[in-house]
Amino acid sequence: MRSVCAWSALLAAGAHAGGLGIFELTPPLIPLVQNAGSPALFPVGDCFGFALEEATIDDMQKAMQNGSLTSVSLVTCYMRRTFQTQQYINSVLQMNPDALAIASQLDAERSAGKVRGPLHGIPFTVKDNIGTKDNLETTAGSWALLGSRVPRDAHVVAKLRDAGAVLFGKATLSEWADMRSNNYSEGYSGRGGQCRSAYNLTVNPGGSSSGSGVGVGANTIAFSMGTETDGSVINPAMRNSIVGFKPTVGLTSRGGVIPESEHQDSVGTFGRTVRDAVYALDAIYGVDSNDNYTLAQKGKTPNNGYVPFLSSKDALKNATFGIPWNSFWVYANAEQQKGLGELVKLIQSAGATVINGTEITNYQTIVSPQGWNWDYGTSRGFPNESEYTYVKVDFYNNINKYLSQLTNTKIRTINDIVQYNNDNAGTEGGFPFPNGNPAFASGQDGFLASLATKGIQDQTYFQALEFCQSSTRNGIDDALSYKGKKLNGLLVPVDPGQSYQIAAQAGYPLVTIPAGVYSDSGMGFGLGIMQTAWAEAELVRWASAIEDLQRTSSTPYKRTLPTWRGYLQRNLPVPL
Ligand SMILES: *[C@@H]1O[C@H](CO)[C@@H](O)[C@H](O)[C@H]1NC(C)=O
Ligand SMILES: *[C@@H]1O[C@H](CO)[C@@H](O)[C@H](O)[C@H]1NC(C)=O
Ligand SMILES: *[C@@H]1O[C@H](CO)[C@@H](O)[C@H](O)[C@H]1NC(C)=O
Ligand SMILES: *[C@@H]1O[C@H](CO)[C@@H](O)[C@H](O)[C@H]1NC(C)=O
Ligand SMILES: *[C@@H]1O[C@H](CO)[C@@H](O)[C@H](O)[C@H]1NC(C)=O
Ligand SMILES: *[C@@H]1O[C@H](CO)[C@@H](O)[C@H](O)[C@H]1NC(C)=O
Ligand SMILES: *[C@@H]1O[C@H](CO)[C@@H](O)[C@H](O)[C@H]1NC(C)=O
Repeated sequence: MRSVCAWSALLAAGAHAGGLGIFELTPPLIPLVQNAGSPALFPVGDCFGFALEEATIDDMQKAMQNGSLTSVSLVTCYMRRTFQTQQYINSVLQMNPDALAIASQLDAERSAGKVRGPLHGIPFTVKDNIGTKDNLETTAGSWALLGSRVPRDAHVVAKLRDAGAVLFGKATLSEWADMRSNNYSEGYSGRGGQCRSAYNLTVNPGGSSSGSGVGVGANTIAFSMGTETDGSVINPAMRNSIVGFKPTVGLTSRGGVIPESEHQDSVGTFGRTVRDAVYALDAIYGVDSNDNYTLAQKGKTPNNGYVPFLSSKDALKNATFGIPWNSFWVYANAEQQKGLGELVKLIQSAGATVINGTEITNYQTIVSPQGWNWDYGTSRGFPNESEYTYVKVDFYNNINKYLSQLTNTKIRTINDIVQYNNDNAGTEGGFPFPNGNPAFASGQDGFLASLATKGIQDQTYFQALEFCQSSTRNGIDDALSYKGKKLNGLLVPVDPGQSYQIAAQAGYPLVTIPAGVYSDSGMGFGLGIMQTAWAEAELVRWASAIEDLQRTSSTPYKRTLPTWRGYLQRNLPVPL
């Protein structure tokens, strides 16, 4: 990633692999100009005449269809963009050495008349905890798993390959998806270093799927895959002003994904538009024999995917949304309340009915007033009502099972990871800083807490699981029902995180769409839509309708491009 040699080698590989002659393409790449002080600080530049900046997947398909763009040239341009931005934002942990060869095969297929679908030839990244059986590592950002071999591609990766998408590389992340520490630098991993947001390089870039959110937001990749246990898709999507889709637990297989908790883990998608995120979702969802939670989706999913539910703003005439004001909105800061409030007015002006004050039942007990806190049950004196109680136990069991399937590694159990981190405290922060790594202030306290449970599912475990799942599910379902009528969704702020926490515990889906940036930090905030289990079609319908409304109006409360604030600073840790 860091050397110019790698770049020319990859270019050469691409030229040889397909004989598609990327050097023959004219006009050549335009030179990059860094206009310090201008809002367009690091311009994306043209891609052989194709406007790459904010290009949608449909734009790319159209250009490939009429022969003005190839997948090889598209991959080349995203490589160029990645090399240009990597020293600033570090969104890619490892580039796929085979990306150009794969693109070239898909170009050949297209030339022969076969187009697999909307993702044919489109480059994407996956978070480094999503397994790939190829020439890439799968390590969750830890040096401990370097060189290990996974038994097979993660189910979602296999499906994306089948859909014709081009695996561009692994995205940076918060190491072990944040399970390892309770006080840490978001977006940091031993192997990947610190990922930074192009919106403001000095603050939390969003996580734990940091490189996925940052990369899509900064136009270094077409779309990306992340994972969420509690906020790890929604948070980086929101902070990087893009769309993030966290499906119902069990819609997307976790087979081949480095786990955190089987009860909450979900593979989600990132796109600059709802449609792009939905193309990715359509490619990956489905039943997988390696994840029995996916069996529950039978009979609950549409026959033709979620694309048919994409809507224009006209659909809003028919919609009724709830606003759980006391449950979530009261915790949004004034600037966000104003922005999201303006957006709600716009949605009403498009014909939607909005009911303010439809609340999560029992929100007074289950929503943490201080913001995201997955051990909130314990904070109020009830470990048997806390999410962290079962996540710690699940991690112990789920990671040991995952590790048992790897080959070519001495890391067989969570004990081995802990020992590795102690033995390599400088890179892996086995001990609290200053005896470890500045990015891991509390060392590996998360792993130690998990280790201490020995994975035992005792009465406290089952009480906590039952309490968190049933109280959040009932709470959301109650809020979605108003005077006997089912609402189309709950409109919620997703910062500072209580809404995605409640959805995470429920295992329910959540989507966030860009809704503006904060004036002090320049970081994005989002409008979330909550729904019940398997109601992804509703989320697709309303997120796309609201996005259409944003794009066809003069509202400032929508996606804006990154401004590269603080691009000369490399503070570590980044403040949470
Ligand atoms: C091909 O499609 C792209 C994207 O729609 C468009 O910008 C371009 O002008 C088209 N070129 C030709 C030769 O039709
Ligand atoms: C999946 O299988 C595991 C282990 O056999 C079992 O404990 C769990 O209850 C199953 N979950 C579902 C949703 O079927
Ligand atoms: C409104 O909903 C009704 C019933 O669900 C449906 O038949 C109609 O097509 C919808 N209208 C619009 C504009 O979406
Ligand atoms: C919702 O109601 C509360 C009072 O309960 C009010 O302060 C707030 O402005 C309302 N929000 C919207 C978006 O209507
Ligand atoms: C996290 O660690 C930093 C650096 O040691 C410290 O200043 C901060 O208070 C810690 N935060 C918490 C919540 O413990
Ligand atoms: C948790 O334990 C307390 C006693 O400490 C008990 O009152 C409460 O009902 C328990 N909660 C659940 C969900 O079982
Ligand atoms: C980045 O965000 C922080 C936190 O809001 C803010 O203090 C800082 O001024 C921002 N950087 C720039 C260059 O605006």
